[in-house]
Amino acid sequence: MKRIILLLLGVSVLAVEWRLSVDAQQPSADGPRYAENGQLLRPADYRDWVYLTSGLGMTYGPAGAGNPPGNFDNVFVSRAAYQRFMTMGKWPAKTMFVLEIRRADQHVSINNGGYTQGDVVTLEASVKDEGRFPETGWAYFAFGTAPSVAPLPASASCYSCHRQNTAVEWTFVQFYPTLMGIARRMGTVKPEYVDKH
Ligand code: HEC
Repeated sequence: MKRIILLLLGVSVLAVEWRLSVDAQQPSADGPRYAENGQLLRPADYRDWVYLTSGLGMTYGPAGAGNPPGNFDNVFVSRAAYQRFMTMGKWPAKTMFVLEIRRADQHVSINNGGYTQGDVVTLEASVKDEGRFPETGWAYFAFGTAPSVAPLPASASCYSCHRQNTAVEWTFVQFYPTLMGIARRMGTVKPEYVDKH
């Protein structure tokens, strides 16, 4: 009996190891996907990507304005891109970010002070792809509730704010606490970036 159990245990360990090695060989499944008409598809699984930060009532723009406290925003990045950033301090081609904006709610359940995250208000995204977007390198998208969208034109405010105010490439790494140290160590923070204004 003992022997059979040991044998079964051995077989299941082998099966798990095989599964892990198959997974390691799969090309990364996350990142941008496009519809046949070239529009960026709203990713269904971005909450499985890597979480970078949440902001509350940040007043630089998108859906942030309004009565205090404003909305929450949550930033996610595709996993493969995150792993490259951790070793290089730079974003590889086909990096994709999602900015999820959620309502700040009060007095939900037992909570009688502070705010919790409520429904999604809107979803925005950015993609780095110099081949597909040669003019700007990065492209910006506002999904709202749409299943797919075309990039916003280069005249949209997203482009200028992200080009001018970001610590690394066109991304707000200064607000992503686990990434800023990496960028500093790798020397990829833009020379013109300043911490305080
Ligand atoms: C005035 C400046 C400003 C404008 C305009 C702006 N953003 Fe941003 N964006 C930010 C800041 C600041 C953050 C960091 C958010 C945080 O820390 O929670 C950010 C974060 C993001 C991110 C996460 C990845 C990154 O680049 O760091 C995406 C995606 C994004 N914005 C999309 C957009 C889109 C789409 C538009 C245009 C419709 C836009 N943004 C307009 C300032 C701006």
